[in-house]
Amino acid sequence: MKILMVLTSHDQLGNTGRKTGFWLEEFAAPYFVFRDAGVDLTLSSPRGGQPPIDPKSDLPENQTPAMARFKHDSEAQKALSQTLKLSDMKSEDFDTIFYVGGHGPMWDLVDNPDSIALIESFYNSGKPVAAVCHSPAVFHRVVFEGVPLVKGKRVTGFTNGEEEAVHLTKVVPFLVEDELKRVGGLYKKAADWESFAIVDGRLVTGQNPASSTAAAKALITLLREGAVTGAFAYFGGSFSTDGLTPSRFADRFEEVNGVHTGFRRNHAKGLGVSGFFESNGNGVRLSKATVFEAGRVQVIGRFSLDGGQPYQPDRPDTRRGLGLEFSLPHGELWRTAMINFPLFPVRTPEIFYERLLAFKPDPATGKPDPAKVKAFEERHPETVKLLKVITARPLSSGFGNTTFYGLNAFRFTDAAGKTTPVRWILKPMQRFEAASAAPPNKNYLFDQLITQIHRQPLRWRLILIVGKPDDPTSDPSIGWPADREQVDVGVLTLDRVEAEEFSAARDINFDPLTLPAGMAPSDDPVLSARSAVYARSFTRRAGETKHPSAITPADVKKGE
Ligand code: HEM
Repeated sequence: MKILMVLTSHDQLGNTGRKTGFWLEEFAAPYFVFRDAGVDLTLSSPRGGQPPIDPKSDLPENQTPAMARFKHDSEAQKALSQTLKLSDMKSEDFDTIFYVGGHGPMWDLVDNPDSIALIESFYNSGKPVAAVCHSPAVFHRVVFEGVPLVKGKRVTGFTNGEEEAVHLTKVVPFLVEDELKRVGGLYKKAADWESFAIVDGRLVTGQNPASSTAAAKALITLLREGAVTGAFAYFGGSFSTDGLTPSRFADRFEEVNGVHTGFRRNHAKGLGVSGFFESNGNGVRLSKATVFEAGRVQVIGRFSLDGGQPYQPDRPDTRRGLGLEFSLPHGELWRTAMINFPLFPVRTPEIFYERLLAFKPDPATGKPDPAKVKAFEERHPETVKLLKVITARPLSSGFGNTTFYGLNAFRFTDAAGKTTPVRWILKPMQRFEAASAAPPNKNYLFDQLITQIHRQPLRWRLILIVGKPDDPTSDPSIGWPADREQVDVGVLTLDRVEAEEFSAARDINFDPLTLPAGMAPSDDPVLSARSAVYARSFTRRAGETKHPSAITPADVKKGE
């Protein structure tokens, strides 16, 4: 993994006659997070050489453990003294770029053409970009697909209150908070001086010096999960047997569905939503994850239909999906992608891969070739049996009264270190109504969802299913005994609906392995396969031109 860190070369604090530069903690903390993670680091600044340290950042009251470590680390000091010139850097040579904060960047980085071009080049090639404290201002002139990069994205940066507290409101060229809002960013902040970092798709921002560790860790998680690099090696051997790689998997989706640029390779048709999760505290006894502490966290989601066709007509029996991202304190994220099947019809990624081709519609008839389907069914009678059971259940009339299942098993760890196998489901609080035949409106499920959310928020109870130590966890096609304890841990409320064009969900990879501390994957190989293939799908779509989604912004407005 290769990271380019960028520092300022500017040492004059406006016209005050005082010195500035980069904030030492904002270099030292991320530097060691990256180095300890085994990252190959390159340091750079507009002028090259030793960047100026803001003398204020090194005052006794601002000392931190990372700064102390820096002062005893000759390798770090040497690297800092030899930064390379920013104009010589190329995005192809790195996996991501990280901007160190301090007041200096407000003068030599925020409008720097080399910096703007470099960020655009990273972002255009599907790579993440990150900045902390004042440095999120480096994004203010960066454009992606014709609009400001931060427009519609959740971002943070040095707050107006923090600038006022250091008496520099009138000295800086502009206020970071105001400017990020002005260019359309969905600016968020924690209390002044608290640690706070946000990941929105491939954009990572941290609020202030205390947030530099959180921002750096969030960036590492993003890279590790493969959300942007498709870092296949991370997933170990289980998925690389028989030469089945994430690329081959993504190729197969394209072979079956065609290539629809900018769209997900599966669950291509969808709609963004947002809201919040209100935990009742009952989950704390199973997991120390902060999402289970009593209180509210923000959620972004996406309802979808199974399949790689972004404009397919809605049908009652098409598998329904719901991807969710919970934003937890300190920049942690929990992502889950759930479907309306209580069990996964195939045991392994390899069978899923095989089934995709067997069910490929014949261009002449629009239906799968019966001979291929038969051959698959003969090889996998267990899938046929399972699908019969699954599809015998009555279907609900819409997304709002659908039960969603996480399916795969996970391992939860509580504060005392005790580990428990857990699965989860979302039970709708909307009344069940049986599905009827699809009406002629080809977007009827999504249109109904839009109307319902405009009328009143939709709610689901999040239920944890508590496994026994010997319950099988490696096979999502096997359920646990029906008498397993179910713990109601809180309510998910979705109160906003957003067309994909405007929804942050479009650029989220709902990778099931994006988990907060206290939740970990089980030994289920489908989990690592999902993670790897979602990453590959994400990398492909992130670098492609976007086309309008089936559900347009006008459709979303109509339901108001
Ligand atoms: C080997 C098994 C699987 C493969 C290869 C696979 C593949 C994919 C791919 C390529 C995407 C698009 C990802 C993106 O571009 O962001 C996707 C999305 C999705 N998958 Fe799977 N999937 C698998 C299993 C599952 C299972 C078990 C579930 C449910 C528990 C599931 C639920 C979803 C949902 C809800 C989405 C849409 C999420 C969103 O809106 O971004 N998938 N899948």
